[in-house]
Amino acid sequence: MSIRAHESSPQPTPPVSPDPAPALCDYEGSAYRVEFWTGERAFEDQAERLALRTLLPPSGARLVEIGAGFGRLADLYAGYTQVILVEPALSMLHQAQERLGHDARFIFVRSSVYDLPLQDQTLDTVVMVRVLHHLVDVPRALTELRRIVRPGGAFVLEFANKRNLKSMLRFALRRQTWSPFAREPYEFVPLNFDFHPTWVSQQMQRAGFAVQRAVAVSHFRAGFFKRHWSAARLAALDGLLQRYASALKLAPSIFVQAQVPPTTTPVAASGLFRCPACHGIDLVAAVDSLTCPACGQAWPQRDGIYDFIQ
Ligand SMILES: C[S@@+](CC[C@H](N)C(=O)[O-])C[C@H]1O[C@@H](n2cnc3c(N)ncnc32)[C@H](O)[C@@H]1O
Repeated sequence: MSIRAHESSPQPTPPVSPDPAPALCDYEGSAYRVEFWTGERAFEDQAERLALRTLLPPSGARLVEIGAGFGRLADLYAGYTQVILVEPALSMLHQAQERLGHDARFIFVRSSVYDLPLQDQTLDTVVMVRVLHHLVDVPRALTELRRIVRPGGAFVLEFANKRNLKSMLRFALRRQTWSPFAREPYEFVPLNFDFHPTWVSQQMQRAGFAVQRAVAVSHFRAGFFKRHWSAARLAALDGLLQRYASALKLAPSIFVQAQVPPTTTPVAASGLFRCPACHGIDLVAAVDSLTCPACGQAWPQRDGIYDFIQ
């Protein structure tokens, strides 16, 4: 994986954070779909789908998936009237479009999680899978995600668990120097982090989410198991552990279900998009762009993709 550092409101709200966006783990042009998901990761894919089927509200008006990649999980959103796939890598969005573009329910948006071009409280459900481990500034991302969920809406988040069984055993046998019990994130290669479940839960609560349930996923992510049993059988066993052993949090992947408290003060949204630069709303649509009347910035729309990265 290449890593390169790298509707009208006269009174736009000030930016969430004046800081420049943190470095992004760049998937532009990567062969992620073919190299990562073809063949030997069928077990992980099936196990993750089981967890999502358990945790996702099955239907609603609007769902957004952040860092949706090539739209691997999009078939799970069949119960939603509108599905927004947000992803910073254009090449990934093109692949998602090839898979899903025939379905008018899907909206393709190029953006990072840090400055979402979506109005406050416009989503029933937000999903983010296999993305948190690329984020340097988790509090900023969670604050932004909390902003777009309506009161009573759901957030399903997957993260890489540093306190999994394998890393605890390796640490006990002195084959690993870093402690899986330390709360802070562990960056094992640049822009790739493992997280402690308690730390993630605290960050979600600080951002204003009420954490409801956590499911441990992918207990059999090892060559030994995959060589001896089929992906379907391992996923079925994983499903049992997801149900009965999640409290132990021994698996390398954790899915958390959270809610924005229904008592949160509702705000009126005038549409879906807002300007990520100045936060103006009521963007004016032309054939090939959305223009912000507050700051004048024109955001291109090319080949069915709304591009909010300057
Ligand atoms: C490992 S892939 C996961 C893709 C998809 N969620 C899945 O599970 O198949 C990580 C994705 O996160 C995206 N990503 C990385 N940094 C991001 C950021 N700051 N905001 C939104 N997405 C990001 C990448 O472009 C990439 O598509």
